[in-house]
Amino acid sequence: MNTTRDFALQLDREDPLSSFRERFIIPELKGKEQVYFLGNSLGLQPRTTAGYIDKIMKDWASLGVESFFQAPEPWMHYHDLLTKTVSEVVGAIPSEVVVMNQLTVNLHLMLVSFYRPAGKRFKIICEAKAFPSDQYAFETHTRHHGFEPGDAVIEVKPREGEFILRTEDIIDVIREHGEETALVLFGGINYYTGQRFDMKAITEAGHASGAIVGFDLAHAAGNIPLHLHDWQVDFACWCSYKYLNSGPGAIGGVFVHERHHDKNLPRFAGWWGYDIHQRFKMEKGFVPMPGAEGWQLSTPAIFLYAAHRAALEIIEAAGWENIQQKREKLNGYLWSLLEELDRETGGRQIRFITPGNAADRGCQVSMLMLQNGKEVYQALMKDGFIVDWREPDVIRFAPVPLYNTYTEVWSLVNRLRDLLK
Ligand SMILES: Cc1ncc(COP(=O)(O)O)c(C=O)c1O
Repeated sequence: MNTTRDFALQLDREDPLSSFRERFIIPELKGKEQVYFLGNSLGLQPRTTAGYIDKIMKDWASLGVESFFQAPEPWMHYHDLLTKTVSEVVGAIPSEVVVMNQLTVNLHLMLVSFYRPAGKRFKIICEAKAFPSDQYAFETHTRHHGFEPGDAVIEVKPREGEFILRTEDIIDVIREHGEETALVLFGGINYYTGQRFDMKAITEAGHASGAIVGFDLAHAAGNIPLHLHDWQVDFACWCSYKYLNSGPGAIGGVFVHERHHDKNLPRFAGWWGYDIHQRFKMEKGFVPMPGAEGWQLSTPAIFLYAAHRAALEIIEAAGWENIQQKREKLNGYLWSLLEELDRETGGRQIRFITPGNAADRGCQVSMLMLQNGKEVYQALMKDGFIVDWREPDVIRFAPVPLYNTYTEVWSLVNRLRDLLK
């Protein structure tokens, strides 16, 4: 492993996506660009976002509500500008995807349709340490159906002394609860450990038990390749403010597999999900749009559409395959440098809680800091390395392919080395 700065500079020179960094606004501290490794929390702002939002402001100013039909890009059909790239990113056919609301709201809407306890099937199987919103959603939906969350929510935990869930253990728990399981719902990538789950295997195991299988893709969408359609996943939801760079509180997305489209599944409905050809007749009797769009509720936030579009166009221009290649290489580089640092510090300072196997993670690397972690984190932040701290002792780094460089990765690990010594 070449650990020199020159090597990092060479990797940057050879990087076919290096020019894409210029499409983002990099935060600065005292006139110096910061090293931003928090794309797993809030992705950076594309330079084009403000312009796209401004176009909507201008439409609104000049045409008022007529913009829905008369704007140069009519708001009524703006959604269609988003669906193609989003469906490519999540591995869906376009009718399986809808951009709407935000993640927690969408999770609730999906649970209304897909958590349908019946007979002895009432359990939800999920990962331990699921994101709090997911935990609260499970708790409140199981209670809503008259069950005690303690009985109905089954968390798959790592083995004693381990941090990573073994796929075989997940499958065993699904089998063990077999006919009592109504729903299996996992993160695509766990927000804390950065572990990427084997979504195909989990889906197969859930279906073999007769359960519905869904995923929270907050940390997976825009990060790793997904094949929701081919994996036969029933439903999924994600946010677009992390790896999809669409801004704070950005509009979320939902996937509903096409095999559920014609079933007129129970749902909480709103007028924006009503068949578009008859929506403005304002009649009684809900007639859903075909496909995932039939879950829409409200008049969409066109400003959020615009911000999403600006970010998606960058993904489109860079090419999803190229982004994936760089993600693997950049993350592999970070991992190798950290492993080297771990060796140098005799295994006494850091402990990886993200899987060592590259196929089992995305951009993020999480580490337990074994000594003075908080001080190290604070020193990094002070020096302009924007990273993440999770109490009590976990630090997370997520270099992303569209705007981070190999040299930034090198600088981070180099500074970390100084601090740990
Ligand atoms: C895994 C996961 N699920 C759910 C959420 C909640 O998303 P929102 O606040 O957009 O509803 C987050 C937010 O970071 C998350 O990381």
